[in-house]
Amino acid sequence: MATTSVMHTVLVPVKQDRLEIFSQDVTRGLSAKNKYLNSKYFYDAEGDRLFQEIMRCHEYYLTDCEMEILQEQSALISKTILSHAKQFDVVELGAGDATKSIHLLKELLKTGQDFTYYPVDISGNVITQLEQSLPKQLPALKMHGLNGEYFEMLQQAGVLSHKNKVVLCMGGNIGNFSPSEARKFCRQLRSYLQPGDLVIIGIDLKKHPRIILDAYNDTGGFTRDFNLNLLKRINRELEGNFDITKFDHYATYDPGTGACKSYLVSLEEQDVKIGDQTFHFSLDEPIYMEISQKYDLESIEQMATQSGFETVTDFFDSRRWFADCMWLCV
Ligand code: AVI
Repeated sequence: MATTSVMHTVLVPVKQDRLEIFSQDVTRGLSAKNKYLNSKYFYDAEGDRLFQEIMRCHEYYLTDCEMEILQEQSALISKTILSHAKQFDVVELGAGDATKSIHLLKELLKTGQDFTYYPVDISGNVITQLEQSLPKQLPALKMHGLNGEYFEMLQQAGVLSHKNKVVLCMGGNIGNFSPSEARKFCRQLRSYLQPGDLVIIGIDLKKHPRIILDAYNDTGGFTRDFNLNLLKRINRELEGNFDITKFDHYATYDPGTGACKSYLVSLEEQDVKIGDQTFHFSLDEPIYMEISQKYDLESIEQMATQSGFETVTDFFDSRRWFADCMWLCV
């Protein structure tokens, strides 16, 4: 019998361009009953600069806490890694300038382990810079930069390396997801990993509400400018006409749920044009801009187990304000 070969016509969606997706997200957010914008769009060049300023603010404790953990406890973290993984490579999601992870890499090198460091970053610039700067600081380090989306690059690291992975997610970025999105992120992360792989994830903890609120309401106004900068970005990239003097930054923290939320509030009734669309704002109408979720240890533990991880241990700063949690894939 003759075989028939059937040719399937696959309709591959044309990859939407970045600006079109940005525009659609903005339209969706500003057309909603409760207006919102996505904080992932904070990070254009000016947003990156403002975030650097925020990290230098005395109120913004997260960076200092995590730096303290890495500076003071990297030998212990390295020892704990070695007691769970015999052969491994290190993947860092959102490596940035690796100023925190360098302490751990240094300690891992001291043990004589043969490992490769795969820094992942969405910015090609960041990877190029790292490839230039890290060998000067750690000449013995084998590294291979990966420029792209986290999960795609994690998959790529799996093709390049057949050893167990130690995945670093520093910075507390998981806080910028709602709790349900965070659980989804953890499950997705687990799906790209193998049993025996380790994750070290930075998570900001619940603490005195005023400490948290102050961190997102700094007296220098950098967090306000960081939020307002997204309106400027919309003006520039999507032909908007936001008057940023007509919006005020407002941060809230709910110590019950651990949700720290930032809003921009319209200071008058106004219309804003973006391209050929018009959006109406009532007096005092808020735009929900960002969540920075804070966790307690019980909910972190729950999130880990529900996503297919087992907690190995948590590393805390001296004030126990922040945790780098080590999870094992089971
Ligand atoms: C990147 N992320 C962990 C920061 C945070 O603390 O949520 C972003 C930020 N937003 C305002 N200040 C800092």
